[in-house]
Amino acid sequence: MDKTVFSAAVLTVSDRSARGERPDESGPAAAAMLAAAGYQVASQSVVPDERGEIEAALAALAEAGTALVVTTGGTGFSPRDVTPEATAAVCQRMVPGIPEAMRLASLAVTPRAMLSRAVAGIRDRTLIVNLPGSPKAVRENLEAVLPALRHGLEVLRGASTDCG
Ligand code: MTE
Repeated sequence: MDKTVFSAAVLTVSDRSARGERPDESGPAAAAMLAAAGYQVASQSVVPDERGEIEAALAALAEAGTALVVTTGGTGFSPRDVTPEATAAVCQRMVPGIPEAMRLASLAVTPRAMLSRAVAGIRDRTLIVNLPGSPKAVRENLEAVLPALRHGLEVLRGASTDCG
């Protein structure tokens, strides 16, 4: 049987990229990995580190029926870093195991992995996963969790109930 093709969206959260001062390399890095893993990448967008704008963008992507939304940026300690708070605000259920797995894998690369406050959660039938902001961190974090996400989406979207 053919595997379901899930839709995905990438949301880059960066003041500088939103102002056009820095090209967004992290969003395209995430999109390339998702496409290579068989997702249909339906949208890539950039918003500034503004909680209201992040929440509105995430809610719109969920409303559009996107299966997986990956954010990049805004997970650190800067006063402007509010991506985890915006994500938690729009989710009904959190999925702590995904950021736990990302930080566990990333700690093997850098002790600074513990400084990412990334969260993951579910809004309606959409899974939202935060990634840190650098293209390197995007690759390392997404690589750690991507293989397990498909099963979660199959269960979330009613394609499978079998964990075997
Ligand atoms: N995780 C991995 N795998 N690789 C990295 O280079 N950078 C860390 C951390 N997680 C990093 C990582 C650093 S330096 C910071 S400050 C936090 O992610 C938060 O990044 P952000 O503020 O860009 O979201």
